[in-house]
Amino acid sequence: IVVNPEGSKRVVVTKELPGTHWQDILTAADCRIEIMPGTEILSKEEIIALIGDQCDGAIGQLTEAWDTDTLGALKAAGGTAYSNYAVGFNNVDVAAANELGLPVGNTPGVLTETTAELAIALTFAASRRIVESDQFMRSGQFHGWLPQLFMGQLFHGKTVGIIGAGRIGAAYARMMVEGHKMNLVYYDLYQNESLEDYVADYGALLEKHGEPAVTCQRVDSIEELLKVSDLVSLHTVLDENTKHLINEERLNLMKKDAILVNSARGPIIDENALVAHCQKNPDFRVGLDVFEEEPAMAPGLADLDNVVIVPHIASATVWTREGMASLAASNVAGLLQGYSLWDGADV
Ligand code: DGY
Repeated sequence: IVVNPEGSKRVVVTKELPGTHWQDILTAADCRIEIMPGTEILSKEEIIALIGDQCDGAIGQLTEAWDTDTLGALKAAGGTAYSNYAVGFNNVDVAAANELGLPVGNTPGVLTETTAELAIALTFAASRRIVESDQFMRSGQFHGWLPQLFMGQLFHGKTVGIIGAGRIGAAYARMMVEGHKMNLVYYDLYQNESLEDYVADYGALLEKHGEPAVTCQRVDSIEELLKVSDLVSLHTVLDENTKHLINEERLNLMKKDAILVNSARGPIIDENALVAHCQKNPDFRVGLDVFEEEPAMAPGLADLDNVVIVPHIASATVWTREGMASLAASNVAGLLQGYSLWDGADV
């Protein structure tokens, strides 16, 4: 698919993106936009073929490897701009991009609330056994109200543990702390300040109104967080320090009836260990948007009643996905016009 064929700068886009505003941004920057149609995930060879001999910029997907080979091909074709169509950039070898002198952008901000909302949906789907109950109804098994039918967990007044204190973690915390009066513990390997700022603001607000405070506490030990939390939600980046952050040993520290939600990246959890843990602990419930080896799932995962699974849709609202497209296009258009990346595109 080609948009604005007479544009003088060639920008390739590895998947069709929603909306048209993003195309207007690139068109206004005198770009010829070449979009790869279809839903197949591109291999490195296919990306390199798409880039070809001459290419000024590219917008790629989190399902693709943007590494020395593909970024190198973009650079060799004269490219000066790459943007990931995602806030996460674990699929991009940022060190290689830096070495090549190729700026890399991402799409933060527009997906913060959307992603947190999906994490909330998973939280309650898991804790209140929504999928199991739905299947029960559809299969004609409901024969009347019963005192012990599909009992789940109440969160009000309990403790939420958040791993990853950035924008999305802070939005999720706000929803659970203010909406459900949960006490908060949080942990981050990195110096993210969004959640810290939220806690300071909320604390000041509660004090001003003389309301009974919920407790909000940063902890330095992930073990401590896992032990005290009734609900744990993951919002950290994926890198070599966070891969398998949740492993068998740490799962065993969690309460037997805790809820675990992952809307960040699959490999943060050791998925095989999670399957074994859920098999042994039927009251332990999980909501997953992301998987270790997407699109595959660990053997046994899809057979578990205590796990709710959705296909990496945390940012999938029309407003957000169109906004992500506009941001990715702005990253590339800006760079091609000689501007540096805007501050928010924080790779
Ligand atoms: C991201 O942006 O990193 C999400 O996983 C997809 O929106």
